[in-house]
Amino acid sequence: MSDEIFKKIVSHAKEYGFVFQSSEIYDGLSAVYDYAQNGVLLKNNIKDYWWKSMVQLNDNIVGIDSAIFSHPTTWKASGHVDAFNDPMIDNKDSKKRYRADNLIEDYIQKVEGKINKEKKKQHKRFGENFDEKTFLLTNPKVLKYQKEIDLVNKRFSEALNKDNLEELKNIIEDCGIVCSISGTKNWTDVKQFNLMFKTQLGSTESNSTDLFLRPETAQGIFLNYLNVQKTGRMKIPFGIAQIGKAFRNEIVARQFIFRMREFEQMEMQFFIKPGTQMKWYEYWKKIRLNWHLSLGLDKSNYRFHDHEKLAHYADAACDIEFNFPFGFKELEGIHSRTDFDLGNHEKFSTKQIKYFDPSDNSKFTPYVLETSIGVDRMFLAIFSSSLKYEKLDDGTERTVLKIPYILSPHKVAILPLVKKDGLPEYCRKIKDKLKLKFSTVYDEKDAIGRRYRRQDAIGTPFCVTIDHQTIDDDTVTIRDRDSMKQDRIHVKEIHSFLDSSLDINNWLLNSD
Ligand code: GAP
Repeated sequence: MSDEIFKKIVSHAKEYGFVFQSSEIYDGLSAVYDYAQNGVLLKNNIKDYWWKSMVQLNDNIVGIDSAIFSHPTTWKASGHVDAFNDPMIDNKDSKKRYRADNLIEDYIQKVEGKINKEKKKQHKRFGENFDEKTFLLTNPKVLKYQKEIDLVNKRFSEALNKDNLEELKNIIEDCGIVCSISGTKNWTDVKQFNLMFKTQLGSTESNSTDLFLRPETAQGIFLNYLNVQKTGRMKIPFGIAQIGKAFRNEIVARQFIFRMREFEQMEMQFFIKPGTQMKWYEYWKKIRLNWHLSLGLDKSNYRFHDHEKLAHYADAACDIEFNFPFGFKELEGIHSRTDFDLGNHEKFSTKQIKYFDPSDNSKFTPYVLETSIGVDRMFLAIFSSSLKYEKLDDGTERTVLKIPYILSPHKVAILPLVKKDGLPEYCRKIKDKLKLKFSTVYDEKDAIGRRYRRQDAIGTPFCVTIDHQTIDDDTVTIRDRDSMKQDRIHVKEIHSFLDSSLDINNWLLNSD
């Protein structure tokens, strides 16, 4: 997908009240965004869909809401003070800072793009007769590009695994990567940069304590593990789920709400017996992919990607990647975190954090299987893949946001055909009956066709239109966003129609 399309997505998000640049009147704050009147509804619906699937659907998962601040030792114990770093490199001419790993990844993607270009050219030339497999295995240009990709990938993953910053710089130089601003290869050495934001607790410099804004919500769960386990009389295996803000001083924050400095996570830590982690890892991979698929977007939008370099706490990890407008990128992480966190909190706090298993009288520090998804990335995944420009039979075009109905900001729009003859009053009565259960909008301005387009553009699944016949026989038309088909139903049927179309059971429990 081109930059042009991505720009359209960003401007649609602004124009239709989904996402605004934060502090726009002061020219904005980099990588910080605000959710607007429609965006907040979509975001809340995403969170609700996740919370229900985790907490409400699973008898052995409970939720918490821990504070953003925690004792500073938390971040020493979690390893974030020492190891939560990104490798960064500056261009000496433009003074622009980049993530070294991103520069290399972008380079690899560029070479992959060249292969795709060759493929497209041949496809155009030979049409149906094009044998892609043989072409990729034999074409000299493609083989040269592929060899280059393999070589860079190998050096890159070795450098990451050994934290070899010098080699990262060598790769950047050997690949001839240039700064996009200055166009030069005048690079500094690669340095590690800690991503946590610091702040102070206390009124004076002398008695203040350094605190960190949490870079992940997970630690709030670990700190509360023992309290929840005891007060909730939880038996292993069990989970604790949480939705909340996280903060990272990202070096390169770009691509709209994909990489932000203040964002929101939905995390679940599943506490298990040591040795069972691989079973649960596979289990949660499947459950989480099914959660995504239940929303009905095309399966080809998702893929698993195993981590080349494991985070400091993990013994296995993968991402669910989504096909964003700028290619496949991480949407959600699934990590086997071993007993790293609980073990370290036990060590640093000197408090016992053990689980006693009455089934075999064993005592152990639980292992943890984590699922972690960014709300904002999920928002972008849904929003970007739902925005469509459709040619209609009458030759016109419509812009429609085909958000899964269950997540749409508003579920139904109530529209009087004209602004008189008692139709607005009739509409108000319908709206009043529906609005507590279904987010409902009322719109009487402009011709009905334009109003349908406005609802299409914000993703409202159903439009109920009240016309003169309604006054006579209490029937209304109900229009479906995707098919644009209109049916005439009795006014008393609206509620049950919406109920059945938006029944969460039909969504959450469906993975086909
Ligand atoms: N507790 C584990 C953890 O935080 P992570 O892979 O660093 O793991 C989990 O982050 C998820 O949080 C990511 O898959 C992504 O969806 C989201 N995320 C991470 N950094 C983000 C950022 N700067 N902006 C928006 N979302 C982010």
